[in-house]
Amino acid sequence: LNQRLQREVAERQKMQGKLEVAEQTLEQSSKLAVLGEMSAAVSHELNQPLAAMKTYLAGAALLLRRNRPDEALSSFQRIDDLIERMGAITQQLKSYARKAGDALAPVDMGDAVVSALSMMEPQLKRNKVRLTRTMPDRPVMVMGDRLRIEQVIINLLRNALDATQGVDAPEIDILLAAGETVTLTVRDNGHGIEDLDSLFEPFYTTKQPGEGVGLGLAISSGIVNDLGGRLTARNADGGGAVFEMRLPIFEEDKIRAAR
Ligand SMILES: Nc1ncnc2c1ncn2[C@@H]1O[C@H](COP(=O)(O)OP(=O)(O)OP(=O)(O)O)[C@@H](O)[C@H]1O
Ligand SMILES: [Mg+2]
Repeated sequence: LNQRLQREVAERQKMQGKLEVAEQTLEQSSKLAVLGEMSAAVSHELNQPLAAMKTYLAGAALLLRRNRPDEALSSFQRIDDLIERMGAITQQLKSYARKAGDALAPVDMGDAVVSALSMMEPQLKRNKVRLTRTMPDRPVMVMGDRLRIEQVIINLLRNALDATQGVDAPEIDILLAAGETVTLTVRDNGHGIEDLDSLFEPFYTTKQPGEGVGLGLAISSGIVNDLGGRLTARNADGGGAVFEMRLPIFEEDKIRAAR
């Protein structure tokens, strides 16, 4: 009986080992799949301006040789615009890539909102947006990294600003609520969401070149998912868009009590 038991234990240990290897392989390959998808999309998006730059550059050289510097200058301006676009793409990706090394820590969502708003203040003022902010008196904590959470809020505010461009009395409401989970709602009275299904896809944009590359929401929802939460969107009944960022609440007291 003893021998049989030992054999069984050994067998189980072997299985356990195999399972762990399989799990690691699966995790690795799903990471690689995401990486592959992302690189394909990114290189596609970067190749297009690169090819265009090469054409404009050849054109400018030709114009200079023919002694037409003014026209050459306008080619340079085009090239400059394209460099800007490539910069916007890599800038967005950088905020996503930041994750690896940074350890998670308790973040006060109220603080994150305040600091995201202070970064957006000049644009909000310029567009004469009426801003309302509703937040609980006590701190609302989540586990995350402050910079990336602020990045998400800034992306939502930038979108709300863009959507209310041209609206008579632009309004943005920010609502922070804490219950089972933490919910941050950003609502605007802009033109509303055109296509709810494509919203979070990388490079989906309805904006003019130079005004958006379509990475803001794809990256933001990636960040929120990483933190165990969800980013959702809908159109409000009275018009305008509503974005909700839900994150697990971090309650120190409860965690201490459970120990
Ligand atoms: N508040 C909103 N109201 C209406 N439509 C929105 C709103 N937020 C996003 N959208 C739509 O979703 C699209 C994708 O948004 P996303 O933030 O991912 O990219 P973008 O703003 O176009 O470019 P980027 O954020 O990369 O500069 C937008 O182009 C717009 O059509
Ligand atoms: Mg955006």
